[in-house]
Amino acid sequence: MSIEAFKIIGGKKINGELSVEGAKNAALPIFVATLIEKGTYILKNVPNLRDIVTLTKLLESLGLEIEKLSNHSYKIVNTGLKSLEASYDLVKKMRASFLVMGPMLAHEKKARVSLPGGCAIGSRPVDLHLKGFEALGVKINIDHGYVEGETAELIGNKVVFDFPSVGATENVIMAAVKATGITIIENAAREPEIDDLCNFLVKMGAKIKGIGSGRLEIEGVKKLYPCEYSIMPDRIVAGTFIVASLMFDGEISVKGVVRDHIESFISKLEEMGAEFEIEGDVLRTKTKLSQLKPAKATTMPHPGFPTDLQSPMMTLMCLVDGTSEIKETIFENRFMHVPELNRMGANISTDANMARVTGIKNFSSAEVMASDLRAGASLVLAGLLAEGETIVNRIYHVDRGYENLEIKLQALGANIERIKVEI
Ligand code: EPZ
Repeated sequence: MSIEAFKIIGGKKINGELSVEGAKNAALPIFVATLIEKGTYILKNVPNLRDIVTLTKLLESLGLEIEKLSNHSYKIVNTGLKSLEASYDLVKKMRASFLVMGPMLAHEKKARVSLPGGCAIGSRPVDLHLKGFEALGVKINIDHGYVEGETAELIGNKVVFDFPSVGATENVIMAAVKATGITIIENAAREPEIDDLCNFLVKMGAKIKGIGSGRLEIEGVKKLYPCEYSIMPDRIVAGTFIVASLMFDGEISVKGVVRDHIESFISKLEEMGAEFEIEGDVLRTKTKLSQLKPAKATTMPHPGFPTDLQSPMMTLMCLVDGTSEIKETIFENRFMHVPELNRMGANISTDANMARVTGIKNFSSAEVMASDLRAGASLVLAGLLAEGETIVNRIYHVDRGYENLEIKLQALGANIERIKVEI
């Protein structure tokens, strides 16, 4: 059996502009939200990713008709759901599938969704999702690996999250928009992708106050209406490309940057000595890699430093003279890129959720393995800089969250190709 890998001949000068596609983590909940109400939706700036394909299959299994209109736009027709069960074989491929539960409860007051498995970066329970649904009057029953939810009526209520979970916030918002009465979510997650979901729902006629704050007030309405919507740009892809720009002494510009969406990340880079110019949505830097100073970073819920930019930041820190530190507080096992980067000559030691990074001159080429989508992209960046041949295995992880990464890099002069390797 063969799977795909990237073969990179690094050490080449690369330059040009990297453009950022639509946000995966906004597109996924917005696609799912079309389950809430019948009608025809047009979604634009949708990224071409494995996760979108996976979700499309799941939504079609529930009864939606989904048609790709062009490279980045889709038509979704909801004529009513033909199934209220999201099966294990589809949910296991992508845990975001669990987001279908809120909309199905809003639409049919009933849902049966497979418990999402854990994944490489952590156990990723859904207890906060279920706590939110129960607060809205849903009777939850878990058996044989499935969560069953049912209620005669969704009743607005106060939901207080112990942790500002992105998925739990999204699921409860989508269940609450057609509930009877007002739902207050305290300690709601504040990631920009949630704002995008809320803006989409408001365009459908939902009544949501406090968008962008940690306290959301949702007044349920009887009916919502389909609409046309354009997805926000992907701030994590933008951050990954900004790291590439600094690794290549500013020879790369990045199009599609919204500074507000990654303020904590950009200000951390500025603390390291990076200087940026942003004209419109194009970011440029003149800072040389050698000018950067070490730093300490800790991942936090938004507006803190994003966990999804932890591995790209670590890759950059590997090349900064001195000792940097990065602490992962969101997921319990998100340092699997460390041994892979160390195989490429990095000098990283970890102690529980703390990584200490001592700068090296450059990575050395090696065969490595992606462990999650962000780690995979970070290994690609390291391979572009390392002299010689680097093979990054299991790039299905990368394809989940980065659209045509090798094609974009080839356009900048990088020697990277997609190959098949026997396993
Ligand atoms: C979303 O995952 C993103 N995925 C993740 O991006 C991102 O890393 C994460 O938010 C944090 O920002 C999508 O949006 C599709 P959480 P999600 O619920 O919703 C614990 C990527 O790279 N938790 O905020 O699963 C959980 O175990 C992916 O694009 C509970 O304990 O994140 C984790 O430790 C990776 N109980 C922490 O909260 C719950 O009920 C953060 O999870 C829910 C979560």
